[in-house]
Amino acid sequence: MKPIKKAVFPVAGMGTRFLPATKVVPKELFPVVDRPLLQYAVDEALEAGIEQMIFVTGRGKDLIESHFDLAYELEHTMDSRSKDKTALRGTRLKPGNAVFVRQQEPLGLGHAIWCARDIVGDEPFAIFLPDEFMVGSPGCMKQMVGAYEKLGGNVVCALEIPMEDTPSYGVIDPGYRDGPVTEVKGLVEKPAAGTAPSNLILPGRYILQPEVMRILETQEAGAGGEIQLTDAMAQMIGKQAFHGLTFDGKRYDCGSKVGYVEANFALALAHPEIGADIREVAGKLLAES
Ligand code: UTP
Repeated sequence: MKPIKKAVFPVAGMGTRFLPATKVVPKELFPVVDRPLLQYAVDEALEAGIEQMIFVTGRGKDLIESHFDLAYELEHTMDSRSKDKTALRGTRLKPGNAVFVRQQEPLGLGHAIWCARDIVGDEPFAIFLPDEFMVGSPGCMKQMVGAYEKLGGNVVCALEIPMEDTPSYGVIDPGYRDGPVTEVKGLVEKPAAGTAPSNLILPGRYILQPEVMRILETQEAGAGGEIQLTDAMAQMIGKQAFHGLTFDGKRYDCGSKVGYVEANFALALAHPEIGADIREVAGKLLAES
């Protein structure tokens, strides 16, 4: 079994739900308290033993490249003033381990992943949707790599949500269940209300075999007129092992305003330096509202 050493981070979307904030600033660099969403996802990948980070970027996303670069003036000035640089950990990857490819048009998640095909090559790889913020110990991907080492094939993160919310997501048609592991018998992207095969959705972490790239090569547009990763994965079921893992932790959907504000609030409350102040401020705000 080949280990998971590469991860793809699709970051070329338009982020329309956060306009005008995303007119210039990529959604993936929005902070949760003091760390960008994309940095949390890279931290999660590093913790899982992944070495090469492949970012699929697009127009207006150049700041992402700068974030993972050496900020020479900043670091030099901080050094000369003996400032603590711990907060910068993980922002500079080993030379050659941050790779950027361009998706010229946001044609969908499946298309974004396919843009990384030559860099992924013939190995299993991970995918992270950085606006899905996963908090766990160990992290979500580390838990998934553990499951992959036992099960092989393809492992996707699985999450139970209220049935009425399923039309917004890729949904699993489940087979047998064994603790946190669910056999995946089918996948449907954005099912019409009342037609979802379960309330188990795909919240944005995947370990996939490279065959998915060959399927994506000819994948037609699906739900929303976009080339969907879910449709390509669905074609692998039955040919390769395919399992979902319900991860032990908390997920925040930071692609939505409510999920993003919730993540900031939760992490601020749990923060060792500002948690107590935030609790007091929140109490006052709630009393006044
Ligand atoms: P989303 O659907 O959450 O992001 O895609 P979006 O399309 O940018 O957001 P809205 O709906 O307009 O507000 C999940 C991830 O996939 C990337 C996005 O950048 C995001 O990180 N993505 C999406 C691409 O890289 N390319 C695409 O064509 C679509």
